[in-house]
Amino acid sequence: MDRFAGQPILISGAGRGLGEGIAHRLASEGAVVGIVDIAGESAHGVARAIEGEGGKAFGYEADCGSRAAFFEAAERFASDAGPLRAVINNASVLVYEPIEDVTEDTLDRMLSAGLKSVFWGVQAFLAHRDEDAPGNILNYSSPVAYRGRPNTGAYTTIKAGIAGLTKVLAGEFGPRGIRVNAMAPGSVPTPATEGFVTPEQYEQRAKNIPLRRNGTVGDVASAAAFLLSDEASFINGAMLAVDGGIIAAG
Ligand SMILES: NC(=O)c1ccc[n+]([C@@H]2O[C@H](COP(=O)([O-])OP(=O)(O)OC[C@H]3O[C@@H](n4cnc5c(N)ncnc54)[C@H](O)[C@@H]3O)[C@@H](O)[C@H]2O)c1
Repeated sequence: MDRFAGQPILISGAGRGLGEGIAHRLASEGAVVGIVDIAGESAHGVARAIEGEGGKAFGYEADCGSRAAFFEAAERFASDAGPLRAVINNASVLVYEPIEDVTEDTLDRMLSAGLKSVFWGVQAFLAHRDEDAPGNILNYSSPVAYRGRPNTGAYTTIKAGIAGLTKVLAGEFGPRGIRVNAMAPGSVPTPATEGFVTPEQYEQRAKNIPLRRNGTVGDVASAAAFLLSDEASFINGAMLAVDGGIIAAG
């Protein structure tokens, strides 16, 4: 499949985890991917790996919570790859802890990486988008946006905020030919969850997931590629659950 042939697609936080998987997937379908991560070495490493597989990719080090830094990365990507067709707002800092333990520093880091970065990603996309082609914005929410899981106060606030913002943007940008959607990946082991979810807890979680397994990076990458593709051309303002049924019946 070459669904994204030559399309420049910028992905925040794609130096590892779900973003890395999506970058590989989109590149394998012809996209030119821009990998932005606060961990510059990771961003460059993913870009090199994609190039090694025969794909096209550029890596950039930037703190996506900083408007200036995210804009600079987007500008460099547009100059390297051409005007943008899509942005994927995936960057995040994950901390699970009781609300009374949340410090100002942790909250600032989480809000900056996970929520402010979405605003800057959207603005940078508008500044550098291909005005002659349909556009796409894909945001990463989570099943927590619908549930009240203890010890996820900051994370849930961010993911519920993204769910609301996605709907607002779908209305604002639909008339301009830009689709805006969100995904809610379920329980997917990545480096982010290593410190918070043990292998035993993952086994336990699987028992409560209707499909009786945790998700994979590939599950999420396939869903992301679908939402960005023309096969999803009338999907706008949606939250796609990629969670084995947790939201519906977990
Ligand atoms: N893994 C899951 O089970 C799961 C479930 C639901 C939602 N999600 C969401 O999917 C997305 C990816 O999750 P993941 O598990 O791959 O996370 P991860 O922590 O493995 O990857 C996040 C990446 O974002 C980067 N990053 C952090 N702060 C940044 C900043 N300020 N600027 C630029 N980059 C920054 C990190 O360096 C890292 O490479 C997140 O939005 C997360 O909330 C994940």
